[in-house]
Amino acid sequence: MNRVYIKTYGCQMNERDSEAVAAQLRARGYVIAEDEHSADVVLLNTCAVREQAEQKAIGKTGHLAKRKRKDPNFVLGLMGCMVQNRGTDLLERLPDLDLLVGTQKFHRVPQMLDQFIASQKGLGPRPSTLVDLEEEAGSEETIREHTEGESQVSAFVSIMQGCNMHCTFCIVPKTRGAERYRSMDSICKEIEELVANGTREVTLLGQIVNSYGMRQMDYVNGISPFVQLLERVNAIPGLDRIRFTSPHPRGFQKDLVDAYGRLEKLMPYVHLPVQSGSDSMLKRMRRPYTRRRFLEIVEQLRGVRPDICLSTDIIVGFPGETDEEFEATRSLFEEVGFDMAFIFKYSERAGTKAAEMGDDVPVEVKDTRNKDLLDILGRSSLKRNQSMIGTVQPVLLEGPARKGEGMFVGRNPGNRKVVVAANPRLVGQIVPVKIHDATVSILQGELCLTGVDETLPQSLSDAH
Ligand code: 5AD
Repeated sequence: MNRVYIKTYGCQMNERDSEAVAAQLRARGYVIAEDEHSADVVLLNTCAVREQAEQKAIGKTGHLAKRKRKDPNFVLGLMGCMVQNRGTDLLERLPDLDLLVGTQKFHRVPQMLDQFIASQKGLGPRPSTLVDLEEEAGSEETIREHTEGESQVSAFVSIMQGCNMHCTFCIVPKTRGAERYRSMDSICKEIEELVANGTREVTLLGQIVNSYGMRQMDYVNGISPFVQLLERVNAIPGLDRIRFTSPHPRGFQKDLVDAYGRLEKLMPYVHLPVQSGSDSMLKRMRRPYTRRRFLEIVEQLRGVRPDICLSTDIIVGFPGETDEEFEATRSLFEEVGFDMAFIFKYSERAGTKAAEMGDDVPVEVKDTRNKDLLDILGRSSLKRNQSMIGTVQPVLLEGPARKGEGMFVGRNPGNRKVVVAANPRLVGQIVPVKIHDATVSILQGELCLTGVDETLPQSLSDAH
């Protein structure tokens, strides 16, 4: 009765929350199952950003509910953003749910599960659904526990929760609440513990990481709290690589750009969501920057790190998107030449400002615009990847590749996946890999024992 399977939908923040729940469950004597079939308890950690994400989790729940009807001891719970978004209304459609856990209550899962299982054992009627969707002061610190005992080469570290922006399309401020920041001491202590346990790379997570500490922590010599945090993390011995996601173009000031030039562990990769390349659209989306300003940030970043890799998020078919507005997005997309991008078709979210504007761009138009951008992306990332053939990349090996005996996967500084034949002993090491093949999303190469090519730009030759 104690095997739990957790399935995660959505972003890295959700993955991180699921990891924390798993760690807490393990500490409480539960076993984390590899798949749903071998589990007595299934928990779905949900996403609410687009309708499709919600439908996936609802469909899955409906499917699992059938098993529940056959096996009354099976426990089924939903956690996270969709739960926070829809609340107990979910029970009208999904009456078989045993647990509903909001985004500030992940740490309560073990206790709720204990309680539910105990009441299930008392031979009465089926226990009623346990629900906890409240806000909780200090919950940004309660998800600290990490994957107990298990070593992670690359780990997510949550630095804050919530979002204070007002993007008109976005449900996240509702699902994740207002911004709350963890202290720098607590974050650094967590990272030191991770490093002591074998971690070499961290990705700092927050809805808008460059808002970290805003109005609560001081600027020091013109340096924002987020960059101060980066400086402190950069100084942690034994840690090799730092990444973060996601920053907002607003507040992407010079101190953060400059950090890429002076913090040697900060990897040359930025995920910087632009959403649209049209000023009128950005206004309607309530994204407080212009196309020009976005391009200026890109230029500054490339000035400091010419090899920097960029990725972005774009929404096509936002209410009222005209051909000209889309063309502005398309041309920005082409001009920047992103290495990676997530392109979303606009999905109306009840309760957001944009929902009042009407979802008036036809599905076919959304599809064509989506495809246009994907074509451009395919070309630009393939070109970029092919340009790496023949170079030697310092790759942090993370573990076995999905396919191929003896094949391992890691990432280069620019966050590209690299597949290479290697010895398992090298997992957790930064190894030089000579690239001989490239697709749109993956580089292939071989271990290169002569070391990293001296002729590469500094950033590409930071192998240890
Ligand atoms: N419709 C489509 N995409 C959305 N995103 C956020 N809200 C919506 C929505 N209503 C996208 C944005 C954001 C990413 C995480 O999801 O591009 O950056």
